[in-house]
Amino acid sequence: MRRLLLQFNLLLVLAISSWGAFAFEPIAYTVMGPQGAGVLRWLTSATSCPEVSWDSRAPVRMDMRAGPHDVAVRTGQQADQKSAQFELAVCEAAWPKGVQSARIEKTVTAAPKQKFQRILVIADTGCRMKASENAFQDCNDPQAWPFAKIVERAVQHKPDLVVHIGDLHYRESPCPEGRAGCQQSPWGYGSDAWVADFFNPAKALLQSTPWLFVRGNHESCARAGQGWFRYLDPSPFQSNRSCDLPRHDEVADFTPPFAMPLDAHTQFVVFDSSATAGKSLSPDSAMFKTYQQQMVDVTRLAADKANSIFLSHHPLLAVAPSKTRTALTPGGNRALLSVVNALDTQTPWFQNISYLMHGHIHAFEAVSFKSHHPASFVLGNAGSAMEGVLPATLPADFEVAPHAVVDHFTTQPDYGFALLDVSEQPNAPWTLTEFDVQGRAVHTCTLLNHKTTCTAH
Ligand SMILES: [Fe+2]
Repeated sequence: MRRLLLQFNLLLVLAISSWGAFAFEPIAYTVMGPQGAGVLRWLTSATSCPEVSWDSRAPVRMDMRAGPHDVAVRTGQQADQKSAQFELAVCEAAWPKGVQSARIEKTVTAAPKQKFQRILVIADTGCRMKASENAFQDCNDPQAWPFAKIVERAVQHKPDLVVHIGDLHYRESPCPEGRAGCQQSPWGYGSDAWVADFFNPAKALLQSTPWLFVRGNHESCARAGQGWFRYLDPSPFQSNRSCDLPRHDEVADFTPPFAMPLDAHTQFVVFDSSATAGKSLSPDSAMFKTYQQQMVDVTRLAADKANSIFLSHHPLLAVAPSKTRTALTPGGNRALLSVVNALDTQTPWFQNISYLMHGHIHAFEAVSFKSHHPASFVLGNAGSAMEGVLPATLPADFEVAPHAVVDHFTTQPDYGFALLDVSEQPNAPWTLTEFDVQGRAVHTCTLLNHKTTCTAH
């Protein structure tokens, strides 16, 4: 018996060493893209791709999207740097129209629905390990980094779709010696940090629900962009859209906006703001010109449906957290605002957009306006460490941006997640419910005619 056990242990060690540096159970997940096309992906420690069976059809081999690869270190913002080791391969196959499910090995995945009515919205989920700010979250403590708890609560609501509005990867620097809360954590931009920060804690929702990903500044090419393109970007993987080489950043950091329909009347319009600056842009700058064309494309895409929800990681209309609850600081990204404010269709502001949803600010905010501005939601409280506090109320006629006069403001400064329930009936109200980490509803907001009001539970 003992000999048998020894042999089993030896086999286990051999198996684990053949997987590379860490053991990994494959994960099947679906990434939604332009026009609502879904692509099924398979993240695996194997070096070849498996077959997929659509319903009861004959199995077909999945395509290799990106195999194991060691990407040379780029000049980054952190003192400690290393190459990005992508030990896991990612395979993919587009969901054919009309099929109900896919089977890969023993894993069965349901096809994305035709219509999406219940949508989980989260952002800013990773565990911060950043030496340049001496900011280290206790990634090993589910109270201090509650993303896994949020996933556990959220999956019970059986959403049709998960929207992640950016900043998934935060483990950029090694955990300092003596800091127990993050000891043994992987760090850097390779697959081990991606698995610890995102794939492992999100596993239950990845396997049950299709995802729509929006890119955050943490996924820009100078940071975790290489993993973004391998794992999460919905378009085909290309060398000039991989962030592997800085000379392609001008393309790779500005992926084009796209629309993803929810039903006949409603859609998300996704915008890549990952590389945006912190200041207003000169109209002569390359970034201004690129974003200007993309914002024109956004308004054109938005014209296709009665309701368009604009998704960008960086907020346009929000309040910034500060050290005190009395500080009143606009929280919109100045570079993006300089572009949107210069669009030649200023009445209404940001034509054809019904609502705005963002991350980046680590809090929940719902802001509605007396002016012609679409109601704005900030949903960046799903795991990464909080930064500062927000005022509970705003003075009458406070402007979060020039001429954006606030009518209603609700905030929830603690961790949580939001469920958006969209009605298929045109002109019917929607609801957005904000939950805390324990799964208790904290606020319910009603969305109607580009405005929102929230009530506390
Ligand atoms: Fe961010």
